[in-house]
Amino acid sequence: MTGWLGSAYLWVKAVHVIFVIFWMAGLFMLPRYLVHHQEGLPIPGEPERWIKREALLRRMILTPSLVIVWVLGLMLAVNLGLLDGQPGLGWLHAKLLLVILLSGYHGWAVGYAKKLAAGRPTLAPRTLRLVNEVPALGAILIVILAEVKPF
Ligand code: HEM
Repeated sequence: MTGWLGSAYLWVKAVHVIFVIFWMAGLFMLPRYLVHHQEGLPIPGEPERWIKREALLRRMILTPSLVIVWVLGLMLAVNLGLLDGQPGLGWLHAKLLLVILLSGYHGWAVGYAKKLAAGRPTLAPRTLRLVNEVPALGAILIVILAEVKPF
């Protein structure tokens, strides 16, 4: 593999994919926690337990994984010529757009956890369950773009 990463490229890609798995695991868990947190709001002692679990998940998994996935992903992208206008990188532009949307979803989920911590849910339980599916849909599309590179 050429480019400024040289033979380290495949190692960077391996670590990128490892932290993608961790990030996605966290992104599957947090919205599920939010459903339980919201259902538990009227039960004494429950909200405090979910606030603690959510904070731990963010500190130990979500935030570090998000940062590492972005840093390594951008290193790979620069190596492939994203900044030099290389042709054939349509898949990467589309992937970046979806990853930005997924990062926005991450931010939304953290914000909703803060609303629940303040005892102010704003979504109906059914809507909250529906938005749980967003990370799965994002992961499917992003992995197809990264692996198949259809354009
Ligand atoms: C955060 C921003 C991200 C950037 C800038 C980025 C960029 C990249 C780049 C440039 C590659 C190398 C592709 C190649 O060598 O052909 C790569 C590999 C990969 N990325 Fe990302 N990525 C990001 C996030 C993600 C996310 C969120 C996922 C999955 C949900 C993901 C899944 C993958 C996979 C599976 C590969 C391996 C593709 C292969 O087998 O060659 N990436 N990424």
